[in-house]
Amino acid sequence: MPDLRGRVAIITGASSGIGKGTAVEFAGLGAHLALTGRNQENLQATAKACVEAGTPQDKILLLTGDICDEDVRKNLVDQTVQKFGGIDVLINNAGIGHFAGLETTDIAEYDKLNHEY
Ligand SMILES: NC(=O)c1ccc[n+]([C@@H]2O[C@H](COP(=O)([O-])OP(=O)(O)OC[C@H]3O[C@@H](n4cnc5c(N)ncnc54)[C@H](OP(=O)(O)O)[C@@H]3O)[C@@H](O)[C@H]2O)c1
Repeated sequence: MPDLRGRVAIITGASSGIGKGTAVEFAGLGAHLALTGRNQENLQATAKACVEAGTPQDKILLLTGDICDEDVRKNLVDQTVQKFGGIDVLINNAGIGHFAGLETTDIAEYDKLNHEY
C-alpha cells in the first residue's frame, strides 16, 4: 500500500459509499483529508471513522455544499490550501447514478446527469 503520511487529499462525495470508504482507507494510510458532501451528519460520521482509522481530528477539514456550485468548488480548494498548504490528491468522486433506459428517462434527468456533474 502507498504511504500517504502527511499527503493532502480532497475527497468529494465523502459522506457515503465509495467516497466514505476511500476517506477511511486514506486515513489508515496517514493522509490529511478535505472531505465534502451535502449531508453534514453523514460527513461527520465519516470524519469520526477517519479519526478511528488514524487521521487526527485537526487534520480533517469538512465542507458541506453542492459540488455543482462553482463557488463551493472554489471554496473547497481555497480552504484546503489555506489549512494544509497545498493539495496532493483529488478524488473527484461525488456524483449520481441513474439506472434506467433512455425511453423511461425524462430530459431533465438526462440533462442533470450530463451537464451538471
Ligand atoms: N456504486 C457503483 O456501482 C458506481 C458505478 C459507477 C459509477 N459510480 C460513481 O461513483 C461515485 C460514488 O458512487 P457511490 O455508489 O459511492 O454513491 P453514493 O453512496 O450515492 O455517494 C455519492 C456521494 O456523492 C455526494 N454527492 C452527490 N451529489 C453531490 C452534489 N451535487 N454535491 C455534493 N456532493 C454530492 C453524496 O453526498 P450527499 O449524500 O452528502 O449529498 C455522496 O457522498 C458516484 O459518482 C457514482 O456515480 C458508482
